[in-house]
Formats: sequence, C-alpha cells, structure tokens
Amino acid sequence: AHSQDLAGKSVLVTAGGTVERLDPVRFLTNDSSGKMGFALAEAAANRGADVTLVAARTTSEPIQGVNVVRVESAEQMLQAVLERYDTADLVIKAAAVADYRPAVRANSKIKKSEEKLVLELERTTDILKTLGERKKHQFLVGFAAETEQIERYAMDKLTRKRCDLVVANDVSQEGAGFNVDTNIVHIYGEEGLVEALPMLQKREVADRLLGVIVNRMKAKTAK
Ligand code: PMT
Repeated sequence: AHSQDLAGKSVLVTAGGTVERLDPVRFLTNDSSGKMGFALAEAAANRGADVTLVAARTTSEPIQGVNVVRVESAEQMLQAVLERYDTADLVIKAAAVADYRPAVRANSKIKKSEEKLVLELERTTDILKTLGERKKHQFLVGFAAETEQIERYAMDKLTRKRCDLVVANDVSQEGAGFNVDTNIVHIYGEEGLVEALPMLQKREVADRLLGVIVNRMKAKTAK
C-alpha cells in the first residue's frame, strides 16, 4: 500500500562506522556494518525517493538505484552531509560516528619503542546536532545506540539534537544493533514512545520506520 509514497522526495541516509586515522596504516573505528543504513536507503528508493547514501566503513553490498558517496572520517561525513542538506527533505542518521579522533595524525607510520604509548583523543563534531541547529524544512531522524536507560537517553537526544524522531536500539540485546541482520528498535517522537517494534530483519525495520516517517511528514506539511 505504501508503493511510491516518497516519490519526489530527496532522502539522505548515513551508514557505517567512521574511520579515524592515527597514521597511514592504523585507525580507530567501530563494529557498524552499514546494514541498517543500507536497508533504509534501499527501502526509501523502493518507495520512489531520490536517495543519497553517505557511507563510511561498511561490509554491505552496493545497492541499485541509490547514489552512494564514500567517506572515511566523521569530518568527511559532516562535509558530505552538509553539502546535501539544503536540498534534502528527509535525513536519517544510521551511521555510527566516532565521538573522538586522534588529536594528531602522524604522516608516517608510528614507530614502536620500549615506552608506553599514550594516545590523545579529541572530540569530533556532532553531525546530528549540527543538522538540528541548521534545520529548516527537513525531517530529521537520529539513531541512538544505548545499553541502559534507553528511553531517557533517546528522549534526551531528540531534544538536544532537535530531531523529529529518534530510533533507539538496545545494542546489548542479541539480534539488535551492530553487525547483525536484525534489529529491535523503539521509535520516539516529541510526545515519547511512538512504536516499539519486535525483532525484525533490518529491511523490515526500515520499511516500518519509513511508514511512521511518511505519516509524520504528511502531518507536518498539512499544518
Ligand atoms: O551498521 P549496522 O551494523 O547495521 O548497525 C546499526 C547501528 C547499530 C550502527 C545503528 O542502528 C545505530 O544505532 N546507529 C547510530 C550509532 C550511534 O552512533 O549512536 P549514538 O547514540 O552514539 O549517536 C546518536 C546519533 O548521533 C546517531 O544518529 C549518530 O549518527 C549521531 N552522531 C553521533 C556522533 C557524532 N559525532 N555525530 C553524529 O551525528
């Protein structure tokens, strides 16, 4: 029944784990496979949207009908997303963006010695928060990867980052979160819990989430 309910809409999705380099051959990253973001991009394209997927490190297969922009670091993802933000109708941030990066990136391979090596990390820019601050007509959806007090942290992210929806996954549960084919999500809006979905394939999670999003985008423009 949803067929082409995103026709004419420009959708920006982020996926994967960012890569923060220490030197030419070493980096910090996380367990994100990109599966959740890729599923969202595919589902949105199937509903007729013009989809751009900004993808960091992933193990996912490329998908048909989606424009893929490859990035490495949080900083590159920020630039790629900002360049496309003004023309986007819907932005979904499923990527696992590093909160910290090495303060110094060595130009040549770091040599070992007998001493301890201390790494200094500095904060990256919070992309979602930046998008929230610059929000105009866009419908903004964030993810929240939590292990405790899911609702409290999800609602806190929704308010602080000015999201229209936050999708929380309890990444301590089996069959949810990083690097698996399924997910268990709770969708939160301004009013609190909107929907709690059971364990489903990520592609199915994507469709159910897009269903909620489309309804809310319609309600927003009707106002
Ligand atoms: O890729 P998969 O293997 O399929 O796994 C999916 C997933 C677990 C990565 C995904 O479902 C998910 O939860 N993505 C968000 C992970 C995350 O970084 O959560 P967070 O609670 O740390 O961040 C909250 C939100 O802020 C996220 O939308 C994130 O993209 C965004 N963020 C975070 C830090 C930062 N510097 N910039 C950001 O935009």
